[in-house]
Formats: sequence, C-alpha cells, structure tokens
Amino acid sequence: MSRAGLTRFADRTALLTAAASGIGEATAYRLAAEGASVLVTDVDAEGARRVAEEVRARGGRARHRGLDVTSADAWAEAVEAVTSWTGHLDVLHLNAGRNRRGAAHELDDAAWHDQLRLCLDSVFYGVRAAVPLLRIARGAVVITSSVHAAIGFKGFPAYAAAKGGIGALVRQLAVEYGGEIRFNSVLPGAVVTALWAQTPPEVQVRTAARAPVGRLGTPEDIAAAVAFFASDDASFITGQNLLVDGGRSISSHE
Ligand SMILES: NC(=O)c1ccc[n+]([C@@H]2O[C@H](COP(=O)([O-])OP(=O)(O)OC[C@H]3O[C@@H](n4cnc5c(N)ncnc54)[C@H](O)[C@@H]3O)[C@@H](O)[C@H]2O)c1
Repeated sequence: MSRAGLTRFADRTALLTAAASGIGEATAYRLAAEGASVLVTDVDAEGARRVAEEVRARGGRARHRGLDVTSADAWAEAVEAVTSWTGHLDVLHLNAGRNRRGAAHELDDAAWHDQLRLCLDSVFYGVRAAVPLLRIARGAVVITSSVHAAIGFKGFPAYAAAKGGIGALVRQLAVEYGGEIRFNSVLPGAVVTALWAQTPPEVQVRTAARAPVGRLGTPEDIAAAVAFFASDDASFITGQNLLVDGGRSISSHE
C-alpha cells in the first residue's frame, strides 16, 4: 500500500508510542501507508493490537506490544522486540502525554512528578534505549510536544514544564548525536482526539475560532508533520520544534 505513491519509509522500521489512539494511531497509519514496518505500542496493549490489525488490513506491515513509556525496563524489552523483528530501527515517534489541570498552588508533589514522568522522563528513557539502534540506521526521532511549550495557558504548569523541557532536550540531543540521529518535535494545537470528542460543541467552536485557519486540528494533520520530520525530506533539519496549530500561537485571539 502507498499514500499517493509515496514510499518514503520503504524498508524502514518505526517504533511508535501511545499509538492506540489519536495522534499516535494516525501516525501509525501514515508511516505504514508510506512503506514503514510499524511497531505499534501503547500502555493499552489491546488498543495497540487493534491498530496493528488495522494497519495490516490496509495492506501494511505491523506488530504490536504493550509499552508503558514510564518504565525504563519496558523500554529495553521494546527495543529488543524491534531487533528480533526487522533488526533495525529507523524512526522513533515518542508521543505519550496527557495534560493534568491544576495551578501551581493546587498541585501536590505526586501530580507534578506524574506529569513530568509521563511527558518528559519517558522521552529520556526512550531515547536512551533506542540510541544504539538509531545510530546504526542513521535514524530520526520525532517527539509530540504541545503548543503549551510555546505559550502559557492558565492551569497547566506541570504540562507546560514537561513539554517545554522537550524543546530544550531536542536541541541538546540534536547537537549530541549530530550527523547520526536527527531529533525534532511537533507542537500540536487543539487536535480532535478522544479528549476533545467529549468537549461541549460550543467550546470546540470557540477554540476553533481562535486559530487563524478556523478549525480544530485532526490527528492526520499532526501525523503528516511527524512523517515529514521522520523522512529524508527533512534530512537537513534537526533540533527543531514545529508548531502545528493552525496559527493559534501567532494569533492575538484570547
Ligand atoms: N489532542 C490534542 O489536542 C493535543 C494537543 C497538544 C499535544 N497533544 C499531545 O499529543 C500526544 C498524543 O495525544 P492524543 O491527543 O493523541 O491522546 P489520546 O488520548 O488520543 O491518546 C493517548 C494515548 O496514550 C496512551 N498512554 C497513556 N499513558 C501511557 C503510558 N504511560 N505509556 C504508553 N502509552 C500511554 C493512552 O493509552 C492513549 O492510547 C500527547 O503527548 C499529548 O500531550 C495533544
């Protein structure tokens, strides 16, 4: 199968995290449609299995496994699973995250650390585990950050700190691993995934109006940007954090 004849990931293997739904799921379909063998992982192993099955139903190549990205041990096993499947890792999409609401004075230690563990520690664990394989393949890492890394929204200090940390880490890793591995992140604005589906329609309309393009994003909008960074089309781009937010962050709307 191919998407508009694109085969940018032919003979390449991609490991995706948090890929049982939303942005990760859309990215699995996108990379597989362009020829990648995708290892679909998620803490929800059953959800990952469903997505891998759908990739295969569409003619692609996929396996699945449960992976809690906050477990360093589980990361070692996931990388081992890639080694024993195709023997190489070319693309790593680090996508896990969820925002916890609570102003600084309302957050207890556990909530703060929980947010950083899921959104930032997990990136470190994934990169550390995958660097040996990615170096061999001259691979690419793409991390899903958030518009919260670029502008402040009331009530999300831990999420903003975790996603903001990704931006600095991306630059650091890009310098560290130079010509061997590229590192970039995407910063989605409001994207209609499971969370947004439960949001009242009037809030969705208001949020859409705040972006100059006048709509909410789709998981496919973000998957397209991830695929770009992961592909050779971006071979001269590293250490970048790209806002994919319909212009929300450059608009004066409140
Ligand atoms: N949807 C948006 O509006 C939006 C905006 C900006 C950034 N993001 C970011 O995009 C990424 C994906 O979000 P989404 O909206 O597609 O979410 P989603 O809720 O559709 O999917 C999140 C997935 O993460 C998985 N997950 C949760 N904890 C995990 C863990 N410990 N290990 C592995 N997997 C785990 C869940 O099982 C779920 O399948 C997140 O990093 C999120 O912060 C989303």
